[in-house]
Amino acid sequence: MVSEIKKIFQQKFSGEPLIVRSPGRVNLIGEHTDYNEGFVLPAAIDKAIYVAIGRRTDNVLHLYSNDFNESLKINLTNIKPVKGWATYILGVVDQLIKKGFDIAGFNLILSGDIPIGAGLSSSAAVECATVFALNELFSLKIEKTAMVRIAQKAEHEYAGVMCGIMDQFTSMFGKKDSVIKLDCRSLEYEYKPLQLEGYKLVLLNTNVKHELASSEYNTRRQQCEQAVAWIKKDHSQVNSLRDVTIAMLEPLASIDPIIYNRCKYVVDENQRVLDSCDALEKADLHALGKKMFSTHDGLSKEYEVSCKELDYLVNAVKGNPHVLGARMMGGGFGGCTINLVKEEAIDELIANLSIGYKENMLLDLTAYVVVTGQGTELVNH
Ligand code: GLA
Repeated sequence: MVSEIKKIFQQKFSGEPLIVRSPGRVNLIGEHTDYNEGFVLPAAIDKAIYVAIGRRTDNVLHLYSNDFNESLKINLTNIKPVKGWATYILGVVDQLIKKGFDIAGFNLILSGDIPIGAGLSSSAAVECATVFALNELFSLKIEKTAMVRIAQKAEHEYAGVMCGIMDQFTSMFGKKDSVIKLDCRSLEYEYKPLQLEGYKLVLLNTNVKHELASSEYNTRRQQCEQAVAWIKKDHSQVNSLRDVTIAMLEPLASIDPIIYNRCKYVVDENQRVLDSCDALEKADLHALGKKMFSTHDGLSKEYEVSCKELDYLVNAVKGNPHVLGARMMGGGFGGCTINLVKEEAIDELIANLSIGYKENMLLDLTAYVVVTGQGTELVNH
């Protein structure tokens, strides 16, 4: 990939580009907890976005997506959101300008192998690759956590999704063979070795992304904020659902049962992340798997961000002795399920599920066996 993107850069433009690689992510457990200041347990994967970048002598950005075979030329003074892949790059540029960083025109080639719309955070990877590349190119001296914040803000303002920090943080800070236990309130993090002893993480892609995804995502976030505002009236120390106990939630059950369910899910999920970390430390994969199933239940019935395709895939592996755990992953309304599967059983499982999925959902199933990878890095030397 590196030599290919370099060649394209040199054919289209000229000179020696900087090349940055930024990975997609999976999340073992801890879903919809990040923007509630809770815990998550994600890992970077071996699928990534690559950016090749070089300076220009004017104030023009010339962007080219190798995968879409599309290009965009835009002046630095005229940056605004656009449709598609370029908006994530422009969103980052906009943040840098707003923060007063001194940048000028550049040529950029984008390429990658993260499946799009699969919930593996290809957009976060583009944002992280872009901010990292621009930081190098213009010697901006931005530290990594600040780059993560810039990438997240680009997603808010240019893609319109009020995402938490998990995806960008994982893309930037990922480490091979490790998951990251991240406290989304303090941003304290710890790498935990991912030792799966004969099991593997398998992603099953529903190959759907329902239209609702981003609007419902933003609604969930607002519902959580509404709950915090209500609870704060009696408990002034509460600043987020991270500070909330099930007992504090009880009054909400009669005021707004839907919001109560959303919050109950989040409070339980934070505990499940902590319990899963203990399980990982004790190499108790059965316990981890059970938590994954419980998370799916909560996401489907209380948080209501699943869909029939995701539920089908999780139900289809329930009771299978080779599958310790399964759940939908990411924001929801499509994308992948993440499954903890005995290595020898993977091929047969995928073959059988593909038939059932086609028959019942009238769609093809795609499967990926997860390999963890490094976070954002320069790859040309
Ligand atoms: C998306 C968002 C993340 C996180 C997950 C749900 O991936 O980008 O910030 O909220 O959904 O856990």
